[in-house]
Amino acid sequence: MSARTDIPAPAGMLAELTHRCPLGCPYCSNPVALEKPASELDTATWKRVFSEAAKAGVLHVHLSGGEPCVRTDIADLTAHCADVGLYTNLITSGVGLNRRLFDALVAARLDHLQLSIQDAEAASADRIAGYDGAFARKKEIARWTVEAGLPLTINAVMHRANIARAARMVELAIELGARRVEVAHAQYYGWGLVNRAALMPSRAETEIAVAAVEALRKTHEGVIVIDHVVPDYHARYPKACMSGWARRTFNVTPSGKVLPCHAAETIPHLDFWNVRERSVADIWYESPAFNAYRGLDWMKEPCRSCERREIDFGGCRCQALALTGDARNTDPICEKSPLHAGVGALAAHDAASGALDYRYRRLGAKT
Ligand code: SF4
Ligand code: FES
Repeated sequence: MSARTDIPAPAGMLAELTHRCPLGCPYCSNPVALEKPASELDTATWKRVFSEAAKAGVLHVHLSGGEPCVRTDIADLTAHCADVGLYTNLITSGVGLNRRLFDALVAARLDHLQLSIQDAEAASADRIAGYDGAFARKKEIARWTVEAGLPLTINAVMHRANIARAARMVELAIELGARRVEVAHAQYYGWGLVNRAALMPSRAETEIAVAAVEALRKTHEGVIVIDHVVPDYHARYPKACMSGWARRTFNVTPSGKVLPCHAAETIPHLDFWNVRERSVADIWYESPAFNAYRGLDWMKEPCRSCERREIDFGGCRCQALALTGDARNTDPICEKSPLHAGVGALAAHDAASGALDYRYRRLGAKT
């Protein structure tokens, strides 16, 4: 099929190669109903998908999961991506990477490695991950990455248990030799929504952490790039989720469903086409789910006439659905939403809950 000229080509792809993962992070963006190993795409199909993505215009692919290194074909898939001209970023917990596999990934021309760190203190980091020894393992993977000359990004998700150490996480990333650190406050979708009461920091804690990270950005300018995703529930305006629905990137689930974002399956009336039956380009341009909230025509007020509608695209469709019951509503994180006050009350309620127990994500876990 020929590409529609009114829709920009996709630039990025997140390949959820598997939902299997040794860790159980309570804010994981994977869906609560994790896909089973038996449903995963095989090697040949993933290779076809990567070839089709490159042909459709995709420049970079995030090899993600779950933990992508539990796939025995991860180096083979990485080499294929390099063969078809895709820039590869491995998003890994580090647990599941051994020296032999790491060397195979380097030989396969992996371009970049993104490593999650759960906290700057080992005991807390391992508790959050639900895995003893994860923190020490991650430090070792960081060392291998830097020694191999691969660019390293540290991904640090902030929430009530670690927010007091937000600045320490940035300093740890510098010590590990990272070129970039993403300090991203937990997003409340999937497992994050399940665990929201145990994750939500107070507004005061949030403001202190945001100020500390912003101060470090100035101190370490030129040393490390700090990407800072501020916490939604305490914000005035929403983020431009996915840079706008079906505008730049897409996700492919382990079983081959193609989604405009990681939480799209929570929107019940959408039907997601699968790479087993359709090409990447066909799905990107023609899938009703991709066209459902593309552009601006679907917007209701106050977004429809708002001067920020092409800045944040009305926020997040999945969050609008989760918090207001209608994915076309203004994301209630926005202070212009008539439902905004309720979000502040929710955040305050959860922050004060005192809940400490996480519901760890596990394949086959009942929620
Ligand atoms: Fe963004 Fe809509 Fe709020 Fe305007 S009203 S700032 S477009 S979410
Ligand atoms: Fe689905 Fe934001 S997570 S649009």
